[in-house]
Formats: sequence, C-alpha cells, structure tokens
Amino acid sequence: MICLSLLLLLGLVAVGLSQQPGTIVDEYHPPLPIQACDSNGCVTEDTKFVMGPSRRYLYSVADNGQTGCRTSDGGFDPVLCPDGLTCAENCALIGITQQQYDEWYGTTTVGSSLSFRWVTEATVGADGYLLATDDRYKVFRMKNREFAFDVDMSQLPCGMNGAIYFVEMEEDGGMASYPSNKAGAAYGLGSCDAQCKHDLPFYAGQVNVEGYAEEGVCCFEFDLWEANAWAASYTTHGCSSEGYYLCTGLECGDGDDRYNGVCDKDGCGYNSFAMNEHFFYGANDSYVVDTRRPFTVVTQFITNDGTDNGDVIQAKRIYVQDGVVIENSHVNYPGLENYNSVSDGFCNDYAAFTGGMNHFEEVGGMKVTSDALGRGVMIAFSLWADYGSHMLWLDGPFPPDSDPTEPGHLNGPCSADSGDPNDLIANYPDSTITFSNIKYGTIGSTFSRK
Ligand SMILES: *[C@@H]1O[C@H](CO)[C@@H](O)[C@H](O)[C@H]1NC(C)=O
Repeated sequence: MICLSLLLLLGLVAVGLSQQPGTIVDEYHPPLPIQACDSNGCVTEDTKFVMGPSRRYLYSVADNGQTGCRTSDGGFDPVLCPDGLTCAENCALIGITQQQYDEWYGTTTVGSSLSFRWVTEATVGADGYLLATDDRYKVFRMKNREFAFDVDMSQLPCGMNGAIYFVEMEEDGGMASYPSNKAGAAYGLGSCDAQCKHDLPFYAGQVNVEGYAEEGVCCFEFDLWEANAWAASYTTHGCSSEGYYLCTGLECGDGDDRYNGVCDKDGCGYNSFAMNEHFFYGANDSYVVDTRRPFTVVTQFITNDGTDNGDVIQAKRIYVQDGVVIENSHVNYPGLENYNSVSDGFCNDYAAFTGGMNHFEEVGGMKVTSDALGRGVMIAFSLWADYGSHMLWLDGPFPPDSDPTEPGHLNGPCSADSGDPNDLIANYPDSTITFSNIKYGTIGSTFSRK
C-alpha cells in the first residue's frame, strides 16, 4: 500500500505536462460497468478497473520522473529509499494511460468485459481491482446476496489461473489508516490476502524496500473463481483477525507454523474434480460444463434465516451455459454425497475424511466468512502462473509425487509435469481470460431459471 506522494504527483501533472510530456502520466481507469440486481431487475453501476502497483514504474518526485527509485537489479535506490517510509515520501507511482493498459499490460475493457492477456511486450500476467469511483474501491456486502459473472476459459491451458476473488481491503486503499499512503485505491494500493504475505511491494503506507518485511499483510479472502479450461475451484480463507491486519511472528503462519497463523491459508474450497467428479468441468464433449464456450458462474451466500442479518452458512455454486442452469456437482466420495457447496458441514466432514488439517474450523469456520462478507469486501482479478507448485494444487496431482488414488491428491486432469510458468510463457503467450457481465444482488436476481 502505499506510497507515493500522490499530492505531489498531482501537482506535477498539473504543472508538468507541458514541461515534461511523457514522463509523468495521468492515471486512466478502464470503465468496467457492473449491474446491481434485485427482483425488479438490474441497474448499471459505472465501476472501473485499476491495475495493482507491482508493475508500475516508481520514480523520484524531486525531478519530475527523470530518476527511477528502483535499481536495474530490482532493488531500491539507496539514497531515495533508505527505508520504506522515506521511499514512500521520495517516490511516486506512475499512472497508466488507456493505451498502456491495453498494449503494455494486456488489460482491456470493452463494454462490460475485462480481458487479461498472459504475455505482452512489457509484462507477464495481470492483476487489479474494481473501483466504485476514481479513488475508492467498490465495496460488496454479500450476506444473503449472490455474485455472478460470465467467463471465457477456452484460452487458458493447464497451469494457468484466471481468478476473481473477494478480499477485505480498505475502501480507500489504506490512505486514512496510513497517512504516508497518498496514492491509495486510485493506484491499486492496499492489497492484502489470507496468505499474510511479507513480500508485497507496498504495505501499510510504505514501500517494501527490504523485499521481505517483518510484518505480513493479512485479510479475509474468498476466491470466487480460480480456474483454467481444465479445473476450477472456489475457496473461503477465513481469518481470526478482522480487516486489514499486519501480523507478526506466529500469527503470520509462516513455514512450519502454517496452521498456527491468524488466517486459513489452505482454505476450504470446492473443486469438482478434486471431489472425485471427473467429468463435470473441462474442455471437450465429456463435460457437463464445457469450457470451450463461455458460461456464467454464480456464487450464492445463503444465510441461516434467509435474511440480510443472518449468518452466511453456505456458499453455493451454480453454472449457467447456453441458457441451461447447471447445479454444482456433488462430492463423489462415500458418506459425503450430499455436499455440493462450501459450508461448515462440508469443510469439517471433508477434512475428517481426508485426515487433513482443519485450520478452517480453528480460525472460526463459516462464521468468520459471514462476518467479513457482512463488513464488506472488494473485488480483485488476476491472471497468473505458479513458480512454486505449477498450479497442480488446482488442476493436477498434488503434491506431484503423492498417491493420486488418495482422496484430496488429484485436483484435475493436468499432468504432473504441466504448469511450469517458463513453459507457459514460451508456448502459450496468448493465453487469455475474459470476464464479463458482472452482476450482484439478491438471491436469484442475477440469472434466469426459466
Ligand atoms: C476429454 O478430455 C479428457 C481429459 O483429457 C479425456 O479423458 C476424455 O476422453 C476426453 N473426452 C472426449 C470426448 O474427447
């Protein structure tokens, strides 16, 4: 989060454009309208997209952008950035023009759709957030509500992950909480997730000049969609902490302390293939949801009493393709066949069945998911590949050398040697995901059951 002397930056933009054309750039936010729905229908909201800060040029505010704050080896200029706060004072994040969004960052909006291209001249992968206005994120309060979007997964091979997820960031990107953060949501700052990362480029009003900060940045995360053409999952990652939370020590759940942290890093998720239903989701005629064509993904947050004040006890998944409503597949393991959604019952029974850890329950189960969805969450988007585990936790055998006949180890049909990001960059640079027609509203309001 953080940083940047945006006020200074704005001053420079106002004064500087005529003096320094091309060096300091006004931030453009690609329009990405969504729809808010209820039983009377849907109304359009003029929301926008903003790219996150990790791929942005960081430059010295003292000389109108002539000097970068980073060194060529990826470190930081020792004079401008002796520490994170000083760096935040001395350096500004560059804005991105409409043309750069498209050409450099492979991020394009058309009508109500958002596309990410995997490899462009300037970068690999993409990420960003949904803005309500130019300097505030769109906040979603999801108890007793549903969230829907159309997606085209046909151009995402094994190993890729096109994701749309809720995170409990701060609405202004952290400007009020951390006064040294002068750029805020307008520059995509304020990121946090349930992995309690120590290596975010910006956090808590400072630039992460150390690379690995002592504090980790935690918050509630609900992955609505992590998927490619061969596997899909949705996962809740609750945290016993509230909101944007800086962890220290054990709380961060680093390494061997994974199950001692404030957030559930594994999460409780639902992936049809991993639940032993091998012909539900995929890219040929064998599958119920055929990822060669676009489809709609609906996630419903059902409360115990059917009201907005109840507790969310179930996160339900429904697909719609070619006008046909498709209920989520059921678990295909003995004793668990009644489950086809995320709930306390599913998470606890599945953990018991596989003998896995149940950090989901330890951090507070569905109740903490419900509380965070009630307080309000932001939407994040990303397209990425996985240097650590080649995305096999999503679409193949994981760990790759585990016994694939053991429940919980086979997550999709992709092979153990698939998903190396270098291979994906070399052989699938044109991989693309397109999200469109984002809608949210009361249960049943975003799609037709005909
Ligand atoms: C679809 O793909 C799966 C996984 O590769 C394969 O097992 C299956 O035979 C294919 N079905 C058809 C009809 O091609």
